[in-house]
Amino acid sequence: MSEINPDTYLARYASRTRGMTASEIRALFAVAERPEIAFLAGGMPYTAALDLEAVAEVTQGVIAENGAWALQYGGGQGMPELREALVGVMAAEGIAAHPDDVVVTAGGQQGLDLVAKLFCDPGDLIVAEGPSYVGALGAFASYEADVVHVPMDDDGLDTDALEATLAQLAHDRRPVKFLYTIPNHQNPAGSSLSSRRRERVVQLAEQFDLIIVEDNPYGLLDFKGELRPALLSLAPERVIYIGTLSKILSPGLRVGWVAATESVRDKLVLLKEAADLCQSNLTQAVAQRWFATQPWQAQVETFRGVYRERCDAMLGELAASFPAECRWTQPTGGFFVWVRLPHGLDAKQLLAKALRARVAYVPGAAFYADGGGGEELRLSFCFPPPERIREGVRRLAEVVHDEIAFAHALFGDQE
Ligand SMILES: Cc1ncc(COP(=O)(O)O)c(C=O)c1O
Repeated sequence: MSEINPDTYLARYASRTRGMTASEIRALFAVAERPEIAFLAGGMPYTAALDLEAVAEVTQGVIAENGAWALQYGGGQGMPELREALVGVMAAEGIAAHPDDVVVTAGGQQGLDLVAKLFCDPGDLIVAEGPSYVGALGAFASYEADVVHVPMDDDGLDTDALEATLAQLAHDRRPVKFLYTIPNHQNPAGSSLSSRRRERVVQLAEQFDLIIVEDNPYGLLDFKGELRPALLSLAPERVIYIGTLSKILSPGLRVGWVAATESVRDKLVLLKEAADLCQSNLTQAVAQRWFATQPWQAQVETFRGVYRERCDAMLGELAASFPAECRWTQPTGGFFVWVRLPHGLDAKQLLAKALRARVAYVPGAAFYADGGGGEELRLSFCFPPPERIREGVRRLAEVVHDEIAFAHALFGDQE
């Protein structure tokens, strides 16, 4: 093939792609695949804990009984029997929905993409937790939306700060397209929105005429199986709900869904058809048969046990070996712990030293659209076994201790 000047393409890219770069997490994967690295960076579910024999049996059953159909195109909204099963998954979290409310998507990620595509023109505003899910920030950026962050604490989104932000934006006549929130075991912060604050978020949504996009991959992964009311249950007319099978079954199936009011749903089906015509019938059928024939709640319980043990290992080792000047969240479910370093330490700079010490994490800046998060970082406990997690935390603790000692030597005890 003849050579072409790379600028020939560059000059033609759409302006919305200008800010798009590989996420910090993705860039880390190349290094982190090395076996000597304790990988506390990725959010991969521990799929080895799946009953793989059962998955094989289910897949075989789909092909044997309905192969020609499963290998055909399907409808844009998704397979009705699967939508019924997904309503059952929502019911397990106390959410009442109807299969007609649901649009099946390629993971929750496509749900986020389609919702952003539906609502956002360049320069539009989205309010989101700070920090927030890196994949959502990427989807929002790809439609050139701007994100205003609202801080979090151990009870999730700070609703006083949310009120102040919404009031300020209203005062400035800057309309908000929607609030994006992950109320349960948030990625990356690991904290959950308290029940009292859920009520408050819904009140504020009424007061400020706000739409809420509720992203809920981790609700069923509460270590004690406790449930807090979904925002969708509290304000069905104001909430667009995004679910996924990635954390309770498999991310490889790429099955997620959006539950929304009829007008939104109809538009989402059109956008889904424009994006990829339809969800894979094959993986929808596998998922549907999984729920119809397998003890899926027992599988979720198995995952919960695995993640609970790993989280305990991480929290135990953080308490044992991390410097007292650091702070971290105490997750009660999900995959992540959020660590705040002492003032003046830079999580991005520290990463090179951590990698030399054979441990990987994600610097906090990846989870902010506004340049925040410099002194913060995310640790994930979902994938490595407990002993590896303890080893990784010990290695990182040494790096942080050294860095603090270095800062003290340079600057004394001044802040
Ligand atoms: C908060 C959140 N939303 C959405 C997703 C998307 O996951 P998937 O597309 O696999 O459903 C993830 C995955 O990590 C996530 O953490």
